[in-house]
Amino acid sequence: MFDLSQKTALITGAGQGVGAGIALALAQQGAAVAVNDIVTERAQSSAEAVRSQGGQAIAVPFDVTSPQAVNEGVASIAQQLGPVSILVNNAGNAGANSFAPTPFSKLNPDEWQKFIAVNLFGVMNCTKAVLDDMIEYQWGRIITISSGAGQTGLTLGVSVYGAGKGAGISFMRHVAIENARNGITANSLALGLMNSVDDAGVTAALVKSIPVGRLGTPADIGAACVWLASEEAAWVTGQTIGINGGSLQS
Ligand SMILES: NC(=O)c1ccc[n+]([C@@H]2O[C@H](COP(=O)([O-])OP(=O)(O)OC[C@H]3O[C@@H](n4cnc5c(N)ncnc54)[C@H](O)[C@@H]3O)[C@@H](O)[C@H]2O)c1
Repeated sequence: MFDLSQKTALITGAGQGVGAGIALALAQQGAAVAVNDIVTERAQSSAEAVRSQGGQAIAVPFDVTSPQAVNEGVASIAQQLGPVSILVNNAGNAGANSFAPTPFSKLNPDEWQKFIAVNLFGVMNCTKAVLDDMIEYQWGRIITISSGAGQTGLTLGVSVYGAGKGAGISFMRHVAIENARNGITANSLALGLMNSVDDAGVTAALVKSIPVGRLGTPADIGAACVWLASEEAAWVTGQTIGINGGSLQS
C-alpha cells in the first residue's frame, strides 16, 4: 500500500519545516523527489537529508511566484528524474518575506501582494507547469498545503494570508473537477498550528487550544501527503482535509 516508486514528486518550499518533512515521507515510499526552495542552500541541505536516509532527491531552487522560473525548474526536473507526477504546493506563509501578524486595518495595499503572490499565484504557476504532462500520462496528484486561516475567520491578524490560503483551496477544487476524468486528483490540506514556533512559553499557550494536546509535526503532514499521493487515494479529489489536532471540525 502507498507505494510511490516510479513517481516523481515536486515539493515546493521544502528546504525546511513542513515541506522538508513531506519530501522525506514521499521519498521513504519510493518517490524520486525534487526539493524546491527559493533559498538554494535550504533546498540543497534538505535534498541531502533525504539522500542520507536512502531516498532519491535533487535540489531544484526557484521562486514559485515567477512563471518563467517555475517552467525552467519543472523542465529541469523532467530531464533529471522524469515528468512530475506528484506536486505538493507547500511554499507559503508570506513567501520570502517575514510574516508579522497584523490586523487588516493596519495593513497598506502594498503589503498585500506577498501573501497572494506565494499562496495563490505560486500554486497556480506550479500547477500550470505540471498539468500538461499529468494529462498526457492520465495520472497526477496535486496537493496544496493550506491553513485553517483559509477556512475560518481568526483574531490573529492573518486576513490577507487567509485570503491567499482560501483562494488556493478554491483553485484546487476547480482543478480537481476539470481533471477528474484525467486520472488526476487535486486536494488541499488545511493545517493547524505546527511545531515551528521556537518559544517554549508561546508553545505551551498554543497547545492548550488544541484538543489533541500537541502541535503538529512535519511527519503528521508527510503521512497525509503520502496517502493523497498514492494510487489508493484515487477516489479522493476536490477535498479540503483538516490536519489540526481537532482544532477545526468540518
Ligand atoms: N507553520 C504553521 O503553523 C502553519 C500553519 C498552517 C499552514 N502552514 C503552511 O504550511 C506551509 C509550510 O509552512 P512552514 O511553517 O514549514 O513554513 P517555513 O516558512 O518554515 O518554510 C517555508 C519554506 O518555503 C520557502 N519559500 C518561501 N517563499 C518561496 C517561494 N516564493 N518560492 C519557493 N520557496 C519559497 C522558504 O524559503 C521556506 O524554506 C506553508 O504553506 C504555510 O503557509 C503552516
